[in-house]
Amino acid sequence: MSNDNEVNKFAFLIHPLDMKDVSRVEPKAANKRPQLVEKILGWMPVHKKSEITGIQSITGKRVQGWFIAVPYLPKHFYKIDRNIVIGRIIEGIKIAEDLGASIVGLGGFTSIVGAAGITVSKSANIAVTSGNSYTIATALEGSLIAAKKIGIDIDKAHIAVIGASGSIGKACAQFLVTKCDRMTLIARSEIRLEKLAEIIKENRGREVGISTNISTGIKDADIVITATSSTGNIVMAEDLKPGSVVCDVSLPHDVSREVQKLRPDVLVIEGGVVEVPGDVNFNYDFGYPSNVSLACMAETMILALEGRFENFSLGRGIKLEKVEEIAKLGKKHGFKLAGFRSFDQFIIDDKFDAIKKAASEKKASSQTI
Ligand SMILES: NC(=O)c1ccc[n+]([C@@H]2O[C@H](COP(=O)([O-])OP(=O)(O)OC[C@H]3O[C@@H](n4cnc5c(N)ncnc54)[C@H](OP(=O)(O)O)[C@@H]3O)[C@@H](O)[C@H]2O)c1
Repeated sequence: MSNDNEVNKFAFLIHPLDMKDVSRVEPKAANKRPQLVEKILGWMPVHKKSEITGIQSITGKRVQGWFIAVPYLPKHFYKIDRNIVIGRIIEGIKIAEDLGASIVGLGGFTSIVGAAGITVSKSANIAVTSGNSYTIATALEGSLIAAKKIGIDIDKAHIAVIGASGSIGKACAQFLVTKCDRMTLIARSEIRLEKLAEIIKENRGREVGISTNISTGIKDADIVITATSSTGNIVMAEDLKPGSVVCDVSLPHDVSREVQKLRPDVLVIEGGVVEVPGDVNFNYDFGYPSNVSLACMAETMILALEGRFENFSLGRGIKLEKVEEIAKLGKKHGFKLAGFRSFDQFIIDDKFDAIKKAASEKKASSQTI
C-alpha cells in the first residue's frame, strides 16, 4: 500500500504486433523489405519508449507511467531462443525499476512466454502483472452486451472459446459456462482441453464439448470468444454462424479481415478496449484514440492507482475472484469499456440493426435453398 498523496509509478512493456505497427512509429520502415526490418528489430535494444502523463482517477488520484519497448514482433517470441527472449523481458523490467516504477505490466507476447509471466517475475524487484484479469473482465462484459444488442439470448446460446486452455480463455470459459446452453472449448492440444473440461465439470457442474478444429468447433456457435497466441488469422469468414458475435481478444487479431468484407451478418468486436480517466497522453501512437488503452495496460494503471504493488495476474490459472475484484477497482477509478471497436473502427449503434437484418436475410435465403 502507498501514501495517498504520492504519485505512484508504473511501466508497461510493449512490442509491435505487425509491420503496420512498426511503420506507424518509424515510417521509413514501410519502404524496407520486411525480412530486413525483422532483423533490425531483433538487434535493437530494449528501451524506454515514452512517458505516460495525465492519468487521473475520478477519486482525484494520479499516476505516472512509461512504455518500455521490447522491439520484437510476435514471431520473434517463437523463433528466438527462449532464454534470450526471457532475458530481454527482464531487461525491460530493470528499466522500469530504474525509472522508479513500483509495478510493471507485461503487454502482448511478453506475458505469454515464461509460464505466462511467472518466470520473469522471479527476477523482478517490483510487482509484475500480465493484465489478464482486467482483459477477461472487459472481454466478458463487452461480449455479453454486444450479444444482447444483436438479439442473442445467452441462456439458449452455444458459446465457443478458442484458446480455452490459455490464461484468458480458461477464465472466460469458466465464467460463461453456467450462463449459456452449450459450450465448446477449442485449442490445439486435446489433452489440455480434456483436463479443462474435467475441471469445469467438477467445479461448475457442466459438461462441455472440446474440439481441436476451429472450423467445426465454431460452426454453430452464437458467441465466439477467441484469445490465442496464434501469430496469424485462424477465424475465417466461411466458418461463422449468421447472426453470431465474435469477441477477438487476441493481439495480433485471430479474425481474418475478410470477415469484414464477406460477413455483414456477423458482429466482430475487439476485446479489452478501455477508456482511461483523466487528460491522458501516452506520447506514443499505438493505434488507438488518445484516451483509450488496452485492458492489460489499464490493469497496471488501476493497480498503481490503488497502490497494490503485487503480482496480481500471472500464470494460466486466473481466479474469477480476481477478475471481479479488478472490474470493481476499475469502476472505482473511472475506467470503462470504450464502446465497441470492430476492425480498428468504433461501431455506431445503426450497425447492430444492420447486422440483425443481414443475418435474418441470410437465414431466410439458406432456408429457401
Ligand atoms: N486485448 C488485450 O488487452 C489483451 C490483453 C492481454 C492479452 N491479449 C492477447 O490475448 C491472447 C491470449 O493471451 P493469453 O495470455 O491467454 O495466452 P496463453 O495463455 O498463451 O493462451 C493461448 C491459448 O491459445 C491456444 N492456441 C495457440 N495457438 C492456437 C491456434 N493456432 N489455434 C487454436 N488455439 C491456439 C493455446 O493452446 P494450444 O497451444 O493447445 O493451441 C492456448 O489455449 C494473446 O494474443 C494476447 O496478446 C490481449
